[in-house]
Amino acid sequence: MKKLLMFVVLALSIFGLAACQESKQEVNVYTTRHYDSDDALYAQFTEETGITVNIINDKAPALIEKVKAEGDVPQADVFFSADAGYLALAKNEGILQTVSSEILAENVPSKYQDVDDMWFGLTKRARVFLYDKSIDPTGLTYENVTTMFPGEIIARSSSNIYNQSLVASLVEVLGEDAATIWVNELVSNMARVPEGNDRDQAVAVANGDAKIAIANSYYYGKLVNESDESSSYYGVTDTVGIYFPNQGEDETGVHMNISGAGVIKNAQNKDNAIKLIEFLSRTDVQESFSATNYEFPVNESANMSTLLQSWLDDQNVTELKEQTINLSVLGEHNETAVIIMTNASWDNPSHLSN
Ligand code: FE2
Repeated sequence: MKKLLMFVVLALSIFGLAACQESKQEVNVYTTRHYDSDDALYAQFTEETGITVNIINDKAPALIEKVKAEGDVPQADVFFSADAGYLALAKNEGILQTVSSEILAENVPSKYQDVDDMWFGLTKRARVFLYDKSIDPTGLTYENVTTMFPGEIIARSSSNIYNQSLVASLVEVLGEDAATIWVNELVSNMARVPEGNDRDQAVAVANGDAKIAIANSYYYGKLVNESDESSSYYGVTDTVGIYFPNQGEDETGVHMNISGAGVIKNAQNKDNAIKLIEFLSRTDVQESFSATNYEFPVNESANMSTLLQSWLDDQNVTELKEQTINLSVLGEHNETAVIIMTNASWDNPSHLSN
């Protein structure tokens, strides 16, 4: 009888432990991404796996500091950033770990992976020109934009990581001296003091404040699909187009950045973290990113959405030419890029100050 009782107690405690572990199936994601479409993908992941996804959203430097402050028992399992420069920073700050995954090796091309497998690109976004449809942008490049449209260019502030990464990419592609000249030329051809976000640049073009704006490609998709008639973004794409620069034969390709993720060092839910990143690299999920957040898939077996394809078709681009750089360099050149932009008075162009 006593033995039976002990067996029942043991069985109940094992069952209890298992149930407890079952209820603890979760993954904690620290993300800089700010898109509702991500939530739908996390919900799909939970439905497929039973793993709950908990999200903390903040800017990358704050999230990296938070992980560092959490020490050896981090709350976060995944760091998900909307810029390769920040992925490189996270790695350099020592908060990520190497992940060995056959699925990720298969789904993510090596140029979009960290060389030590500490982060993996999951979506691509091009830094393009949005232009006033009354002009002809044919042949436009980063290098010739100031001569084609002098005094007609706008961009957001230098504190924005997308601009820093664009300049960092040009440091790699053109060299530091040429990139410095490029930034100085751009600043002296700005039509206004930098203000607002990428979409606000498109609004300014629509309002006639400039002919050319620098912005990320997915924002153009958001503008195309803006359905709120009371929004300042509504109808902007009637008069503003998208152009992928540097597509000519001898040209260096458009600046393509990635959004990507890595597993936090000492993650408490490492297996779930890997499962989530693998899920996000899967062909159908990659196609969802493209359809719902207007980003380019990294997985080469995934098709870009018809909207993105139509942009390339309109420009007669059969295969989008990208800068041929390993994106780790965006982190390496970030400091140089910021110094170049600061020295050029990006945020207060001298010809616009009174
Ligand atoms: Fe963004």
